[in-house]
Amino acid sequence: METLLLEAEEEQLVKAAVLLKNNEVVAVPTETVYGLAANAMDVEAVRKIFAAKGRPQDNPLILHIGSFDMLHDITDNIPPLAYSLAEAFWPGPLTMIFRRKENVPAETCGGLDTAAVRMPDNDFTRKLIEECGFPLAAPSANTSGLPSPTSAAHVFADMKGKIPMIIDGGECSCGVESTVITFENESIRILRPGAVTPEMLREFAEVIIDNGVLKQLSPDERVMSPGMKYKHYSPKAEVYIVDGSDEQFTKFIATLTDGKTAVLCGNEALPENIIRLPYGASAEEQGENLFASLRRADELCCKAVYVRSPDTEGFGLAVYNRLLRAAGFRVIKL
Ligand code: TXA
Ligand code: MG
Repeated sequence: METLLLEAEEEQLVKAAVLLKNNEVVAVPTETVYGLAANAMDVEAVRKIFAAKGRPQDNPLILHIGSFDMLHDITDNIPPLAYSLAEAFWPGPLTMIFRRKENVPAETCGGLDTAAVRMPDNDFTRKLIEECGFPLAAPSANTSGLPSPTSAAHVFADMKGKIPMIIDGGECSCGVESTVITFENESIRILRPGAVTPEMLREFAEVIIDNGVLKQLSPDERVMSPGMKYKHYSPKAEVYIVDGSDEQFTKFIATLTDGKTAVLCGNEALPENIIRLPYGASAEEQGENLFASLRRADELCCKAVYVRSPDTEGFGLAVYNRLLRAAGFRVIKL
């Protein structure tokens, strides 16, 4: 199959909508990461997403809406708290889980009786959803297990020949997938941290951070968000998180001699044989750079990537959560 790469411009909107109405898959830009979109309400369309990604069938998809009204097609159970959160954070990187209506196919939701919904903060993609008239199911547009795509080039690398169209909307500003929450009595449970932070959500209700956010779940533990049990975001290179002071970190890196090695850190001095990849000092910068740098490490055929442990406050929790999975929970404590 030929994969068209088109700019996110008004004139391409109809072309993308025609494909989506024909149950095809189109990769679209969002503020978090690129999504692999198809009609969320159609089983045939949704199956194509799972096939293109190589995604396990029990890992549910997020439904993307273009306007708040569309939420009523997906659920008839919207808690008052959800209205307040939508008002504050939509369009934006917050995904809320609702009881789903029967017309939402079970396949879209990995067989669960709930549906995850968000309104992306990207004008082109919201207009596209409105043009289609149905919500778009869209997981991150990477091959299952690889780092999420934050540019159209990343999507092209994974999806070339597998889908008919990629819409290029430039680099994603956020770089890390949305915060996924569920409502529990009067509280909010964070299943996956993102740019809408626990601190921001605490303004609205009590916030519980699910065990799966920072811990490796044992096989017998109940998983609230199926996505958390799979290996994720991993480049081919081995990833290690390194936890220590500037001085300890510099000394440790100097001991690394075997194989091509990349490092994601601040301005610390590095030996000449080590490749420095973009990271940043703030969680926001780190989030924006993380997946692109992990992909770059593979392009450069690195054997290992050592990443300076991020601060876990605010958005840092999301960066750390993705890193833990990329590193298979390997943390080197200095
Ligand atoms: O920012 C994002 O959310 C991006 C962009 C494209 O919007 N999408 C994304 O989708 O990250 P995906 O499929 O890569 O991750 C969806 C996550 C998974 O961890 C999945 O298990 C969880 O959301 N999820 C989806 N529906 C759920 C449900 N009904 N209950 C619990 N978890 C759910
Ligand atoms: Mg994903």
